[in-house]
Amino acid sequence: MQQETVIVIDFGGQYNQLVARRVRECNVYCEIYSYKTDLQKIRDMHPKGIILTGGPSSCYEEGAASCSPELFSMGVPVLGLCYGAQLMQHVLGGEVKRAQNREYGKTELKVDNSARLFAGVPENTSCWMSHFDYISALAPGFKAIATTENCPAAAVENEAAGLYGIQFHPEVLHTPEGTKMLYNFVRNICGCSGSWRMDAFVEENVKAIREKVGDGKVLCALSGGVDSSVAAVLLSKAIGKQLTCVFVDHGLLRKNEGDEVEAVFGPEGPYDLNFIRVNAQERYYEKLAGVSEPEKKRKIIGEEFIRVFEEEAKKIGKVDFLVQGTIYPDVVESGLGGESAVIKSHHNVGGLPEHVDFREIIEPLRNLFKDEVRKVGLELGIPDHLVFRQPFPGPGLGIRIIGEVTAEKVKIVQDADFIYREEVAKAADEWKKNAGGQGNPPWMPDQYFAALTNMRSVGVMGDERTYDYAVALRAVRTIDFMTAEAADIPFEVLQKVMSRIINEVRGVNRVMYDLTSKPPGTIELE
Ligand code: XMP
Repeated sequence: MQQETVIVIDFGGQYNQLVARRVRECNVYCEIYSYKTDLQKIRDMHPKGIILTGGPSSCYEEGAASCSPELFSMGVPVLGLCYGAQLMQHVLGGEVKRAQNREYGKTELKVDNSARLFAGVPENTSCWMSHFDYISALAPGFKAIATTENCPAAAVENEAAGLYGIQFHPEVLHTPEGTKMLYNFVRNICGCSGSWRMDAFVEENVKAIREKVGDGKVLCALSGGVDSSVAAVLLSKAIGKQLTCVFVDHGLLRKNEGDEVEAVFGPEGPYDLNFIRVNAQERYYEKLAGVSEPEKKRKIIGEEFIRVFEEEAKKIGKVDFLVQGTIYPDVVESGLGGESAVIKSHHNVGGLPEHVDFREIIEPLRNLFKDEVRKVGLELGIPDHLVFRQPFPGPGLGIRIIGEVTAEKVKIVQDADFIYREEVAKAADEWKKNAGGQGNPPWMPDQYFAALTNMRSVGVMGDERTYDYAVALRAVRTIDFMTAEAADIPFEVLQKVMSRIINEVRGVNRVMYDLTSKPPGTIELE
């Protein structure tokens, strides 16, 4: 591996991806592997450093996730976090015990900032704790370099051996100095130079793609979403006219979206993608007629996509490569073969086309986190409104319409959603203006949309009786899309949205605001 790499060893902690993202933010490349990975394989990757994540086990219990003592004598610096720190002590001859009280939440922390791990960190700071077990006796050669009221060894080091342990979670935002600590480890202690940059990524990958593809033909399914757009533009930069992009308009896109995607990626736009738009709206509505079960709808939409795509591919003839916009969380969430549970089964329904003749798949974004994909998008000059667009599910509005999908219902939800997004954007702009052009309002949702419930009720509009649908507005704040809270959009904004929807969208006489968090709910309504 040429790239300077830090290996994150996963012991099943809920924050494993977050650890990796923080390391990447220090401009250091890292990859996540299960703790079951063979030590020789890790050696062969020549890592500059190793980080052990947290995990749900107790290291002294039989059958707990463990590691070989040799991991600590490879001459590579190791940092253990939470369970990783305890395990390091346990394996090297220290002692870990169950505490009487669990330490959980934001906790005051005192650090010895003459330790390299804490260089530049104020002596008194705070951290995020979440543990039952604690390090009750240090392994030989270690000393404590941080304490909290209940934790005499909140961080430990054996500097000569390059071994470090932190009981708390530096990777979460509730540890304000956490990123500095991780920076100290990967940049100063491991000596990584910080060469992981997205401009370099673009340059290297353009070269690599050119070499791989040669004069072959490449086919890409473009949805207009961030990942496939960035993948397509990267490919186009590398191989130009050898790339063909197929965009399937399934009639379940947001209002005007099909035309917007075409305006950017089509023949009139700034890119040269051999763009083919397939207007398959009617076909989808026919297939979806009478179907109200969400999983069935997802399946139909996914399968139909493959069929349409295959038909187009057939017209193009034999291709050599198929592009997929897979990103690193997809890889990690598909399971590392270790302890980390597959938290959610894969959303990308449909799978791969069976009847397209191709040699190989290219996944140019396979090692990137979402924020890195966005940076690559910006490097490639893709417009901000596409790079920073909200996540949108593959089955589109199909799962934002509860019950049967019809063309009329799609129109209702498109119009309501358009008004909602317009008013939220207006209110956010207003807030920004008042704040001197800085940042986003604290209530700004990370994902928000209107959905159509299957509920109808009697109402009065003008002097007429109505029997119309209720629209649900959803807005969530989330960082990882695995947990989410309802966003508290100001009431006057909601009032405005409600009154515009009722007045402007025919077929709606009621608007509801959905407060469900995730879990127990999900982000989408269905
Ligand atoms: P959930 O529903 O799991 O959503 O709370 C988490 C994120 O995934 C998106 N999502 C989907 N994406 N196909 C997709 O491609 C789907 O079937 C699907 N369902 C949910 C959702 O929009 C959110 O961003």
